[in-house]
Amino acid sequence: MINQFQDISNFVKLEIPDSNKLPIAIIGAGGIVDGAHLPAYKKAGLEIVGITDVDQARANDVASRHGIPMVYPDLSTLLRETTAQVIDIAVPPAAQRDIFIEVAKSGRHILAQKPFATNISDGEKMIKAATDGGIIAAVNQQLRFEEGIAAAYKMVELGWIGQVTSMSITVNLATPWEMFPWAQNMEKLEIMVHSIHYHDVIRWFLGEPISVYCVAGRTKGQFPVGETRTVSTYKFPEEVTAIVHANHVNRGEDNYAEFRIDGDSGAIRGTLGLLYDYPTGRLDTLEVNSGILPTNGWIPYEVTTRWFPDAFIGTMGSLLGAIAGNNQLRSSVQENLGTLKLISALYESIETNQVVKL
Ligand SMILES: NC(=O)c1ccc[n+]([C@@H]2O[C@H](COP(=O)([O-])OP(=O)(O)OC[C@H]3O[C@@H](n4cnc5c(N)ncnc54)[C@H](O)[C@@H]3O)[C@@H](O)[C@H]2O)c1
Repeated sequence: MINQFQDISNFVKLEIPDSNKLPIAIIGAGGIVDGAHLPAYKKAGLEIVGITDVDQARANDVASRHGIPMVYPDLSTLLRETTAQVIDIAVPPAAQRDIFIEVAKSGRHILAQKPFATNISDGEKMIKAATDGGIIAAVNQQLRFEEGIAAAYKMVELGWIGQVTSMSITVNLATPWEMFPWAQNMEKLEIMVHSIHYHDVIRWFLGEPISVYCVAGRTKGQFPVGETRTVSTYKFPEEVTAIVHANHVNRGEDNYAEFRIDGDSGAIRGTLGLLYDYPTGRLDTLEVNSGILPTNGWIPYEVTTRWFPDAFIGTMGSLLGAIAGNNQLRSSVQENLGTLKLISALYESIETNQVVKL
Protein backbone atom coordinates (compact mmCIF):
# COMPACT_ATOMS: atom_id res chain seq x y z
CA MET A 1 0.00 0.00 0.00
CA ILE A 2 2.80 2.40 0.93
CA ASN A 3 4.35 1.83 -2.52
CA GLN A 4 1.03 2.54 -4.20
CA PHE A 5 0.66 5.82 -2.25
CA GLN A 6 4.11 6.82 -3.59
CA ASP A 7 2.51 7.56 -7.01
CA ILE A 8 0.05 9.84 -5.25
CA SER A 9 2.62 11.73 -3.18
CA ASN A 10 4.82 12.26 -6.26
CA PHE A 11 1.85 13.86 -8.05
CA VAL A 12 0.91 16.21 -5.19
CA LYS A 13 4.47 17.45 -4.48
CA LEU A 14 4.66 21.23 -4.31
CA GLU A 15 8.38 22.02 -4.51
CA ILE A 16 9.58 24.38 -7.26
CA PRO A 17 12.92 23.46 -8.88
CA ASP A 18 15.51 26.28 -8.67
CA SER A 19 15.92 26.18 -12.46
CA ASN A 20 12.26 27.27 -12.88
CA LYS A 21 12.42 30.22 -10.46
CA LEU A 22 12.04 33.80 -11.77
CA PRO A 23 11.70 37.14 -9.96
CA ILE A 24 8.08 38.03 -9.17
CA ALA A 25 6.27 41.33 -8.51
CA ILE A 26 2.83 41.57 -6.92
CA ILE A 27 -0.16 43.83 -7.63
CA GLY A 28 -2.36 44.07 -4.54
CA ALA A 29 -1.27 43.83 -0.91
CA GLY A 30 -4.51 42.54 0.57
CA GLY A 31 -5.44 39.75 2.92
CA ILE A 32 -4.83 36.88 0.54
CA VAL A 33 -1.38 38.12 -0.53
CA ASP A 34 -0.40 38.71 3.09
CA GLY A 35 -1.85 35.46 4.43
CA ALA A 36 -1.35 32.95 1.61
CA HIS A 37 0.64 34.11 -1.49
CA LEU A 38 3.67 35.45 0.42
CA PRO A 39 3.90 32.67 3.05
CA ALA A 40 3.68 30.11 0.22
CA TYR A 41 6.38 31.85 -1.85
CA LYS A 42 8.65 32.02 1.19
CA LYS A 43 8.23 28.28 1.76
CA ALA A 44 9.04 27.64 -1.90
CA GLY A 45 12.11 29.91 -1.84
CA LEU A 46 10.80 32.37 -4.46
CA GLU A 47 12.15 35.92 -4.83
CA ILE A 48 9.59 38.75 -4.60
CA VAL A 49 11.21 41.90 -5.96
CA GLY A 50 8.39 44.45 -5.76
CA ILE A 51 4.79 45.23 -4.91
CA THR A 52 2.18 47.95 -5.48
CA ASP A 53 -1.31 48.68 -4.16
CA VAL A 54 -3.62 51.68 -4.50
CA ASP A 55 -3.40 51.70 -0.70
CA GLN A 56 0.29 52.61 -0.31
CA ALA A 57 0.25 52.23 3.47
CA ARG A 58 -0.92 48.65 3.05
CA ALA A 59 1.75 47.96 0.42
CA ASN A 60 4.44 49.42 2.70
CA ASP A 61 3.24 47.37 5.65
CA VAL A 62 3.13 44.09 3.71
CA ALA A 63 6.50 44.81 2.07
CA SER A 64 8.22 45.53 5.37
CA ARG A 65 6.81 42.43 7.10
CA HIS A 66 7.64 40.11 4.19
CA GLY A 67 11.00 41.64 3.20
CA ILE A 68 9.95 42.92 -0.26
CA PRO A 69 12.62 45.44 -1.33
CA MET A 70 10.58 47.77 -3.61
CA VAL A 71 7.17 49.38 -3.14
CA TYR A 72 5.97 51.16 -6.29
CA PRO A 73 3.52 54.08 -6.26
CA ASP A 74 1.42 52.59 -9.09
CA LEU A 75 1.16 49.86 -11.69
CA SER A 76 2.77 51.76 -14.57
CA THR A 77 5.83 52.68 -12.49
CA LEU A 78 6.16 49.06 -11.40
CA LEU A 79 5.94 47.82 -14.98
CA ARG A 80 8.47 50.42 -16.15
CA GLU A 81 11.03 49.76 -13.43
CA THR A 82 10.77 46.20 -12.15
CA THR A 83 13.07 43.36 -13.15
CA ALA A 84 10.22 40.90 -12.47
CA GLN A 85 9.32 38.60 -15.34
CA VAL A 86 6.22 37.30 -13.60
CA ILE A 87 3.41 39.46 -12.20
CA ASP A 88 1.09 38.07 -9.56
CA ILE A 89 -2.25 39.94 -9.51
CA ALA A 90 -4.49 39.76 -6.41
CA VAL A 91 -6.97 42.63 -6.46
CA PRO A 92 -10.78 42.61 -6.12
CA PRO A 93 -12.46 40.93 -9.12
CA ALA A 94 -13.78 44.16 -10.69
CA ALA A 95 -10.26 45.67 -10.80
CA GLN A 96 -8.46 42.71 -12.36
CA ARG A 97 -9.35 43.06 -16.08
CA ASP A 98 -7.67 46.41 -16.76
CA ILE A 99 -4.58 45.52 -14.72
CA PHE A 100 -4.26 42.17 -16.51
CA ILE A 101 -4.43 43.82 -19.95
CA GLU A 102 -1.82 46.43 -19.03
CA VAL A 103 0.54 43.79 -17.64
CA ALA A 104 0.05 41.56 -20.70
CA LYS A 105 1.01 44.50 -22.96
CA SER A 106 4.28 44.82 -20.99
CA GLY A 107 5.19 41.23 -21.95
CA ARG A 108 5.32 39.88 -18.37
CA HIS A 109 3.83 36.47 -17.58
CA ILE A 110 0.82 36.58 -15.24
CA LEU A 111 -0.77 34.68 -12.39
CA ALA A 112 -4.28 36.17 -12.07
CA GLN A 113 -6.58 35.68 -9.08
CA LYS A 114 -9.90 33.88 -9.32
CA PRO A 115 -12.42 34.80 -10.54
CA PHE A 116 -10.31 35.38 -13.65
CA ALA A 117 -13.09 37.69 -14.89
CA THR A 118 -16.61 38.48 -13.77
CA ASN A 119 -18.06 37.73 -17.23
CA ILE A 120 -17.14 35.68 -20.31
CA SER A 121 -16.59 38.67 -22.57
CA ASP A 122 -13.99 40.20 -20.23
CA GLY A 123 -12.31 36.79 -19.96
CA GLU A 124 -12.08 36.57 -23.77
CA LYS A 125 -10.59 40.09 -23.99
CA MET A 126 -7.99 39.14 -21.36
CA ILE A 127 -7.07 35.92 -23.19
CA LYS A 128 -6.62 37.94 -26.40
CA ALA A 129 -4.38 40.40 -24.52
CA ALA A 130 -2.29 37.46 -23.25
CA THR A 131 -1.99 36.02 -26.77
CA ASP A 132 -1.15 39.42 -28.30
CA GLY A 133 1.45 40.02 -25.58
CA GLY A 134 3.02 36.59 -26.21
CA ILE A 135 2.80 35.74 -22.51
CA ILE A 136 1.83 32.70 -20.48
CA ALA A 137 -1.00 33.42 -18.05
CA ALA A 138 -2.60 31.26 -15.38
CA VAL A 139 -5.45 31.59 -12.90
CA ASN A 140 -4.99 31.00 -9.19
CA GLN A 141 -7.51 28.14 -8.96
CA GLN A 142 -5.27 26.62 -6.36
CA LEU A 143 -7.83 24.06 -5.12
CA ARG A 144 -6.47 21.99 -8.04
CA PHE A 145 -3.20 21.83 -6.07
CA GLU A 146 -4.69 21.32 -2.61
CA GLU A 147 -3.14 18.06 -1.45
CA GLY A 148 -6.33 16.13 -0.63
CA ILE A 149 -8.06 17.17 -3.86
CA ALA A 150 -4.97 16.56 -6.01
CA ALA A 151 -4.41 13.16 -4.35
CA ALA A 152 -8.04 12.23 -5.04
CA TYR A 153 -7.59 13.31 -8.69
CA LYS A 154 -4.57 11.02 -9.06
CA MET A 155 -6.41 8.10 -7.40
CA VAL A 156 -9.22 8.53 -9.94
CA GLU A 157 -6.73 8.80 -12.80
CA LEU A 158 -5.03 5.58 -11.67
CA GLY A 159 -8.43 3.87 -11.82
CA TRP A 160 -8.63 3.03 -8.10
CA ILE A 161 -12.40 3.59 -7.95
CA GLY A 162 -13.18 2.41 -11.49
CA GLN A 163 -15.43 4.61 -13.65
CA VAL A 164 -16.53 7.71 -11.75
CA THR A 165 -20.29 7.86 -11.29
CA SER A 166 -20.73 10.95 -9.11
CA MET A 167 -18.97 13.74 -7.26
CA SER A 168 -20.23 15.89 -4.41
CA ILE A 169 -18.86 18.87 -2.51
CA THR A 170 -20.79 20.04 0.55
CA VAL A 171 -19.78 23.01 2.70
CA ASN A 172 -21.71 24.53 5.59
CA LEU A 173 -19.78 27.50 6.93
CA ALA A 174 -19.99 30.69 8.95
CA THR A 175 -17.93 32.60 6.36
CA PRO A 176 -16.44 35.86 7.73
CA TRP A 177 -17.63 38.00 4.76
CA GLU A 178 -16.56 41.11 6.70
CA MET A 179 -12.97 40.18 5.74
CA PHE A 180 -13.87 41.02 2.11
CA PRO A 181 -15.42 44.52 2.10
CA TRP A 182 -15.30 44.64 -1.72
CA ALA A 183 -17.64 41.64 -1.79
CA GLN A 184 -20.35 43.26 0.30
CA ASN A 185 -22.25 44.74 -2.66
CA MET A 186 -21.54 42.02 -5.24
CA GLU A 187 -24.88 40.81 -6.61
CA LYS A 188 -23.23 37.60 -7.80
CA LEU A 189 -21.32 36.44 -4.79
CA GLU A 190 -21.16 32.86 -3.54
CA ILE A 191 -20.40 31.08 -6.80
CA MET A 192 -18.33 33.96 -8.18
CA VAL A 193 -15.88 34.23 -5.30
CA HIS A 194 -16.12 30.96 -3.34
CA SER A 195 -17.74 27.96 -5.01
CA ILE A 196 -15.92 28.81 -8.25
CA HIS A 197 -13.14 26.68 -6.75
CA TYR A 198 -15.47 23.67 -6.45
CA HIS A 199 -16.97 24.14 -9.91
CA ASP A 200 -13.49 24.46 -11.37
CA VAL A 201 -12.40 21.27 -9.62
CA ILE A 202 -15.48 19.36 -10.82
CA ARG A 203 -14.60 20.39 -14.40
CA TRP A 204 -11.03 19.23 -13.76
CA PHE A 205 -12.22 15.79 -12.62
CA LEU A 206 -15.19 15.24 -14.92
CA GLY A 207 -14.85 17.57 -17.93
CA GLU A 208 -17.65 19.70 -19.35
CA PRO A 209 -21.22 18.89 -18.23
CA ILE A 210 -24.15 18.52 -20.61
CA SER A 211 -26.32 20.72 -18.41
CA VAL A 212 -26.58 22.32 -14.96
CA TYR A 213 -29.36 23.46 -12.66
CA CYS A 214 -28.77 25.81 -9.75
CA VAL A 215 -30.83 27.43 -6.99
CA ALA A 216 -29.62 30.13 -4.62
CA GLY A 217 -30.70 32.03 -1.53
CA ARG A 218 -29.86 34.67 1.06
CA THR A 219 -30.25 34.39 4.84
CA LYS A 220 -31.84 37.02 7.07
CA GLY A 221 -29.20 39.19 8.76
CA GLN A 222 -26.36 38.24 6.40
CA PHE A 223 -23.58 40.82 5.77
CA PRO A 224 -23.34 40.81 1.94
CA VAL A 225 -26.16 41.58 -0.51
CA GLY A 226 -25.47 38.65 -2.88
CA GLU A 227 -26.43 35.00 -2.64
CA THR A 228 -24.80 33.10 0.24
CA ARG A 229 -26.39 29.69 -0.38
CA THR A 230 -26.28 27.69 -3.60
CA VAL A 231 -27.16 24.18 -4.69
CA SER A 232 -25.80 23.26 -8.12
CA THR A 233 -26.47 19.98 -9.88
CA TYR A 234 -24.70 18.66 -12.96
CA LYS A 235 -25.57 16.14 -15.65
CA PHE A 236 -22.66 14.57 -17.59
CA PRO A 237 -22.63 11.97 -20.37
CA GLU A 238 -23.29 8.35 -19.34
CA GLU A 239 -25.38 9.32 -16.30
CA VAL A 240 -22.45 10.77 -14.37
CA THR A 241 -23.73 13.32 -11.84
CA ALA A 242 -22.31 15.99 -9.55
CA ILE A 243 -23.58 18.35 -6.88
CA VAL A 244 -22.17 21.35 -5.02
CA HIS A 245 -24.08 22.48 -1.93
CA ALA A 246 -22.64 25.58 -0.24
CA ASN A 247 -24.10 27.52 2.68
CA HIS A 248 -22.10 30.43 4.14
CA VAL A 249 -24.48 31.51 6.87
CA ASN A 250 -24.30 28.47 9.10
CA ARG A 251 -25.68 29.46 12.49
CA GLY A 252 -25.22 25.92 13.83
CA GLU A 253 -21.60 26.53 14.88
CA ASP A 254 -20.52 23.30 13.20
CA ASN A 255 -18.55 24.28 10.09
CA TYR A 256 -17.81 21.38 7.79
CA ALA A 257 -16.50 20.93 4.25
CA GLU A 258 -16.70 17.50 2.71
CA PHE A 259 -16.12 16.03 -0.72
CA ARG A 260 -16.74 12.61 -2.13
CA ILE A 261 -16.15 10.85 -5.42
CA ASP A 262 -17.97 7.60 -6.12
CA GLY A 263 -17.01 5.12 -8.79
CA ASP A 264 -18.30 1.74 -9.91
CA SER A 265 -15.42 0.02 -8.04
CA GLY A 266 -14.89 2.19 -4.96
CA ALA A 267 -15.11 5.66 -3.45
CA ILE A 268 -12.96 8.48 -2.11
CA ARG A 269 -14.02 10.83 0.69
CA GLY A 270 -12.29 13.81 2.25
CA THR A 271 -12.56 17.07 4.15
CA LEU A 272 -11.15 20.53 3.39
CA GLY A 273 -9.53 21.42 6.71
CA LEU A 274 -9.12 25.12 5.89
CA LEU A 275 -12.86 25.72 6.10
CA TYR A 276 -13.36 24.30 9.57
CA ASP A 277 -11.75 27.43 11.04
CA TYR A 278 -11.02 29.90 8.19
CA PRO A 279 -8.34 31.13 7.55
CA THR A 280 -6.34 29.10 10.09
CA GLY A 281 -7.89 25.74 9.34
CA ARG A 282 -6.86 22.23 10.29
CA LEU A 283 -5.34 19.33 8.37
CA ASP A 284 -7.41 17.76 5.62
CA THR A 285 -8.54 14.18 5.69
CA LEU A 286 -8.67 11.78 2.75
CA GLU A 287 -9.72 8.14 2.59
CA VAL A 288 -10.16 5.65 -0.18
CA ASN A 289 -12.14 2.44 -0.39
CA SER A 290 -11.00 0.64 -3.51
CA GLY A 291 -12.17 -2.63 -4.97
CA ILE A 292 -9.33 -2.39 -7.50
CA LEU A 293 -6.24 -2.20 -5.25
CA PRO A 294 -8.08 -3.65 -3.19
CA THR A 295 -8.12 -1.87 0.19
CA ASN A 296 -10.54 -4.11 2.11
CA GLY A 297 -12.45 -1.11 3.55
CA TRP A 298 -11.64 2.58 4.00
CA ILE A 299 -7.96 3.42 4.39
CA PRO A 300 -6.55 6.89 5.10
CA TYR A 301 -4.12 8.80 2.90
CA GLU A 302 -2.17 11.14 5.18
CA VAL A 303 -2.41 14.74 3.96
CA THR A 304 0.59 16.75 5.20
CA THR A 305 0.06 20.20 3.62
CA ARG A 306 -2.82 22.70 3.64
CA TRP A 307 -4.93 24.60 1.11
CA PHE A 308 -3.67 27.88 2.71
CA PRO A 309 -0.84 28.60 2.11
CA ASP A 310 0.65 25.47 0.51
CA ALA A 311 -1.58 25.08 -2.54
CA PHE A 312 -0.51 28.58 -3.63
CA ILE A 313 2.94 27.10 -4.30
CA GLY A 314 1.20 24.84 -6.81
CA THR A 315 -0.37 27.54 -8.98
CA MET A 316 2.79 29.66 -9.09
CA GLY A 317 4.98 26.57 -9.53
CA SER A 318 2.84 25.40 -12.45
CA LEU A 319 3.18 28.82 -14.13
CA LEU A 320 6.97 28.96 -13.59
CA GLY A 321 7.33 25.40 -14.88
CA ALA A 322 5.29 26.25 -17.98
CA ILE A 323 7.42 29.35 -18.66
CA ALA A 324 10.53 27.16 -18.38
CA GLY A 325 8.92 24.66 -20.77
CA ASN A 326 9.01 21.91 -18.15
CA ASN A 327 5.29 21.27 -17.61
CA GLN A 328 1.81 22.01 -18.90
CA LEU A 329 -0.21 24.65 -17.06
CA ARG A 330 -2.82 23.05 -14.82
CA SER A 331 -4.94 26.22 -14.83
CA SER A 332 -4.28 28.40 -17.87
CA VAL A 333 -6.47 31.41 -18.67
CA GLN A 334 -7.59 29.60 -21.85
CA GLU A 335 -8.68 26.56 -19.86
CA ASN A 336 -10.30 28.74 -17.20
CA LEU A 337 -12.67 30.19 -19.80
CA GLY A 338 -14.55 26.89 -19.40
CA THR A 339 -14.99 27.63 -15.69
CA LEU A 340 -16.25 31.14 -16.50
CA LYS A 341 -18.77 29.63 -18.94
CA LEU A 342 -19.89 27.17 -16.30
CA ILE A 343 -20.30 29.94 -13.69
CA SER A 344 -22.27 31.98 -16.19
CA ALA A 345 -24.56 28.98 -16.88
CA LEU A 346 -25.14 28.49 -13.14
CA TYR A 347 -26.18 32.14 -12.71
CA GLU A 348 -28.42 31.87 -15.78
CA SER A 349 -30.06 28.85 -14.18
CA ILE A 350 -30.61 30.75 -10.91
CA GLU A 351 -32.16 33.68 -12.79
CA THR A 352 -34.40 31.62 -15.09
CA ASN A 353 -35.13 28.68 -12.79
CA GLN A 354 -34.34 26.48 -15.80
CA VAL A 355 -31.87 23.74 -16.62
CA VAL A 356 -29.10 25.35 -18.70
CA LYS A 357 -27.37 23.35 -21.45
CA LEU A 358 -23.69 23.97 -22.11
N1 LIG B 1 -8.46 31.01 -2.38
C1 LIG B 1 -8.26 32.05 -3.09
O1 LIG B 1 -7.77 31.93 -4.18
C2 LIG B 1 -8.66 33.40 -2.62
C3 LIG B 1 -8.97 33.68 -1.28
C4 LIG B 1 -9.28 34.98 -0.91
C5 LIG B 1 -9.32 35.99 -1.89
N2 LIG B 1 -9.07 35.66 -3.19
C6 LIG B 1 -9.14 36.65 -4.27
O2 LIG B 1 -8.06 37.57 -4.14
C7 LIG B 1 -8.49 38.87 -4.51
C8 LIG B 1 -8.15 39.83 -3.35
O3 LIG B 1 -8.78 39.37 -2.18
P1 LIG B 1 -8.30 39.85 -0.72
O4 LIG B 1 -8.99 38.99 0.25
O5 LIG B 1 -6.82 39.96 -0.66
O6 LIG B 1 -8.95 41.31 -0.68
P2 LIG B 1 -8.46 42.57 0.15
O7 LIG B 1 -9.59 43.53 0.15
O8 LIG B 1 -7.89 42.16 1.47
O9 LIG B 1 -7.26 43.15 -0.73
C9 LIG B 1 -7.39 43.65 -2.02
C10 LIG B 1 -6.27 44.66 -2.22
O10 LIG B 1 -6.28 45.11 -3.56
C11 LIG B 1 -6.01 46.51 -3.55
N3 LIG B 1 -6.48 47.10 -4.81
C12 LIG B 1 -7.76 47.36 -5.17
N4 LIG B 1 -7.76 47.88 -6.42
C13 LIG B 1 -6.48 47.95 -6.83
C14 LIG B 1 -5.84 48.40 -8.02
N5 LIG B 1 -6.56 48.88 -9.04
N6 LIG B 1 -4.49 48.36 -8.10
C15 LIG B 1 -3.76 47.87 -7.06
N7 LIG B 1 -4.30 47.43 -5.91
C16 LIG B 1 -5.63 47.46 -5.81
C17 LIG B 1 -6.72 47.02 -2.32
O11 LIG B 1 -6.24 48.29 -1.91
C18 LIG B 1 -6.41 45.90 -1.32
O12 LIG B 1 -5.20 46.14 -0.61
C19 LIG B 1 -9.99 38.76 -4.82
O13 LIG B 1 -10.15 38.64 -6.21
C20 LIG B 1 -10.41 37.46 -4.18
O14 LIG B 1 -11.45 36.80 -4.91
C21 LIG B 1 -8.73 34.40 -3.55
